This record gives sequence, structure tokens and C-alpha cells, in this order.
Amino acid sequence: MTGKALTILGIETSCDETAAAIVRGYPPGPGQILSNIVASQIEAHAPYGGVVPEIASRAHLEILDSVIARAIGEAGIAPAEIDGVAATAGPGLIGGVMVGLTTAKGLGLGLGKPLIAVNHLMGHALTARLTEGVALPFLLLLVSGGHCQLLGVGGLDDMRLYGTTIDDAVGEAFDKVAKLLGLPYPGGPQVEKLAAKGNPRAFALPRPLVTGHNVRKTADFSFSGLKTAVRLLTERQAVKTEDVCASFQAAVIDILADRTEKAMQRFGTDFPEAGEKKLVVAGGVAANRAIAAALARLCAEQGFGLAVPPPALCTDNAAMIAWAGLEKLAAGGSDELAVAPRARWPLASAL
Ligand code: KG4
Ligand code: ZN
Repeated sequence: MTGKALTILGIETSCDETAAAIVRGYPPGPGQILSNIVASQIEAHAPYGGVVPEIASRAHLEILDSVIARAIGEAGIAPAEIDGVAATAGPGLIGGVMVGLTTAKGLGLGLGKPLIAVNHLMGHALTARLTEGVALPFLLLLVSGGHCQLLGVGGLDDMRLYGTTIDDAVGEAFDKVAKLLGLPYPGGPQVEKLAAKGNPRAFALPRPLVTGHNVRKTADFSFSGLKTAVRLLTERQAVKTEDVCASFQAAVIDILADRTEKAMQRFGTDFPEAGEKKLVVAGGVAANRAIAAALARLCAEQGFGLAVPPPALCTDNAAMIAWAGLEKLAAGGSDELAVAPRARWPLASAL
């Protein structure tokens, strides 16, 4: 059953992108992206090889108002047509989250429309509903700079954690390997580009928890040993950067595929009534085409469908926040002005 289309303004400021978007639609989607503005701060942080929280929050404060004005302008709507104002309320860098959430409170109050506090990870999780209306339940592989998790998604308030990283997130591993190799931040896209020109079997790198002495039959991840192996390799001998990137990415692919296969079995047991079983891949690392291709092969083997949003909607953006806010509002959820920003906010308790 679908209701009357909702029009939501979304605001994202939890890391190094200042973003605002207008999205229209109704669950289960797909929705219509009327505008989607992302102002990246990559240049401001590049000299430091990573995101500097103080620089990030100041930059959000300086440009957020104009980014929101552009989002409303490009959508070609009157502010009165907005049904709710959604903003990332966490998890993320607290200064940035505070800027976005406070701005949303002011706008909601000014427009007389509900405020919707959105979990950033929920935004990534629901993007495939915005883009292609993927039905619930689905299996989610969330792979970003800060997170690496496998979840069974039965509904907005039914998130079942099957596996998580016991150390680094997968995007963080890409970024750290890139830094070791002297590549610019953010490292993921650089490593992917060079890996395409290298030999994935040039170096035998470890697959922690999947093979070797510490095998776990769960769907948990570990990447720090892999990163350390790359560091030792580059310290010990002269290596071709392309071959290191290709060997590292091959190890990541093996780890993600093995853990996802384990989670597919859990999902099948948890949701025996699921019609077409579907794997949704979300988060910045989902922009990696080699990873997506490997997961497509796994899905074909295991009888799962696959949904990977387009790269621009995999990395941080405000359209996904607007959509998650839209789903929450459609389910009757909105927030009081007193709602607080949260540096940590696990998805399994996201509402
Ligand atoms: O979701 P996201 O934009 O921000 C977080 O919420 O973390 O993810 C950013 C992460 C970074 O670690 C970046 O290196 C990684 O996603 N990433 C990639 C690719 N594009 C972005 N990793 C591997 N391959 C890519 N093509
Ligand atoms: Zn993200």
C-alpha cells in the first residue's frame, strides 16, 4: 500500500561532505531525487592525509546554508512544499553533526514542519529502496570508511547484526594502504584504479579470520592484519604499487565474499518466507566496481539478487538522508527539538 508522496529536505554533515537534497516519494520506493548537492571538503583535508574534525565543522558551518538554498532552488519547489526536515543526527564527527542537526531544527521550526533525526547508517542501508524500491527483508553489506557490517534488515526497527569488524573498517583499510603507498586521500578510488593495472597474485597477503591460524566461522571481519602485511611488504622490498593494490584488493574481495556467504546462510534461516532473496551493498566502498563484480558472482551462485546503488549514491550524500527520513516519517516517526547529536549510534538501535 502506498500513501501520498512526501517531499523531504535532507541534510548530511557527519564527515567531510556538506550535503543537502530534496527527495519525493513513499515507501517502499523508488523515490524521485529532485536535487542532490554535495560540497566536498576533500581539498581542505588533503594536506593532512585524513579528515580533521575542527576543519570539517567550521567548513560545514560556512557553507551549509548556501548548499541548502541551492538544493531547494534546483528542486524547483517552494519551501512550503517540504513535508519534513531530515538531518543526520549521528554517528559521525560530533561538531559536524551538531551543525547539520541544529540547522535542521531551525528550519523545521521556521517552516512549521517535523524534524526527523536520521541515523547515517540507516541512510546508506535504505538507499537501494530510494533507487530501486528493494522490498524488505534484505541482506545488507555495509562497507564504508567507518563501518563494515552484515545485517539482516527486516524493517526500520528490525536490524539483525550478523557480522562486524573486530578492528578496522574496510574503507579505512583502503585509506591506510593508500597512505602507505603515498597515494592521496581518500585512498579507495586510487587503489581501485591502480589495482586494475596490477597482478592480484603478485603477493600472497593474509585473509584474516577467513584462512590461516585464526579462522572464524562467523560473518565477522578483520582488516588490521592485512594492512600490517602490506606495510611490512612495502618496508622490506621495492614493490610495484599496482601489484600491491591488486593483491590487497584481491584479499579484500575474498574476505568480503566469504563473510557475505556466511551471512547469506543466516539470512535464509532468519527469513525463510523472503520472496526473492536480495543482497544490498551500501556505503562508500560499494562504489568499487571490482568488489561489486565479485559480489555479483557470489549472488549468482547463492540464488540472491544484488542491488548496488550508483557510485554517487554509495558515498556520503544527503539524498539518502532525505529518503531515510521520509521512510521514518511515513512510519509515523519524528523527533523533538531536544533530540541530541550522537557520535556513536549503532544501527541495531537506529530509531
Ligand atoms: O560512506 P562513505 O562516503 O563515508 C563514510 O561514512 O565512511 O565512505 C568513504 C570510504 C572511504 O574510506 C573511501 O576510501 C571508500 O569509502 N571508497 C572506496 C571507493 N570509493 C570510496 N573504497 C574502495 N574503492 C572505491 N572505489
Ligand atoms: Zn557514510
